[in-house]
Amino acid sequence: MRELHDRLGIVTECWSPLGGITVYRPHGVNGGRSVMAEPVVAGLAAEYGKTPAQVVLRWHIEHGLCAIPKSVKPHRIAENFDLFDFALTSDEVAATDALDTGRRSGPDPESIRLDSFSRR
Ligand SMILES: NC(=O)c1ccc[n+]([C@@H]2O[C@H](COP(=O)([O-])OP(=O)(O)OC[C@H]3O[C@@H](n4cnc5c(N)ncnc54)[C@H](OP(=O)(O)O)[C@@H]3O)[C@@H](O)[C@H]2O)c1
Repeated sequence: MRELHDRLGIVTECWSPLGGITVYRPHGVNGGRSVMAEPVVAGLAAEYGKTPAQVVLRWHIEHGLCAIPKSVKPHRIAENFDLFDFALTSDEVAATDALDTGRRSGPDPESIRLDSFSRR
């Protein structure tokens, strides 16, 4: 899929890139556990003098993915742009990849239909 998107010039935007869905649905499949609370992420944040949110957003960049995080707080909006003075190594990206539980906190795109939104 990624190769096809690259060939067609399509950029993939990541849904809920900071795991906001775990805040909005605290009783969801991952029990409301935010990726920002993962020790691997916290460790990288401490190593680079960054916040867990910045590490998670940088992980998207290392993968060439588009992340548009949401915050209502100006200081967090600034923090979420301040990502371009550090980089994760391939081992650190792999350690972060390994946090994947294989379970979706949000709906499966394959299951979304117009009637999911009361439309025909
Ligand atoms: N989730 C959906 O259903 C959905 C659907 C369609 C489109 N999208 C799009 O996806 C993008 C964002 O998704 P999202 O709102 O689901 O979630 P998100 O960006 O993954 O996370 C937002 C949550 O993280 C918090 N946050 C933001 N910056 C932070 C930081 N630096 N440190 C700690 N916490 C931080 C926010 O709280 P504060 O606001 O209090 O800072 C909010 O609770 C938006 O462009 C949105 O329009 C989402």
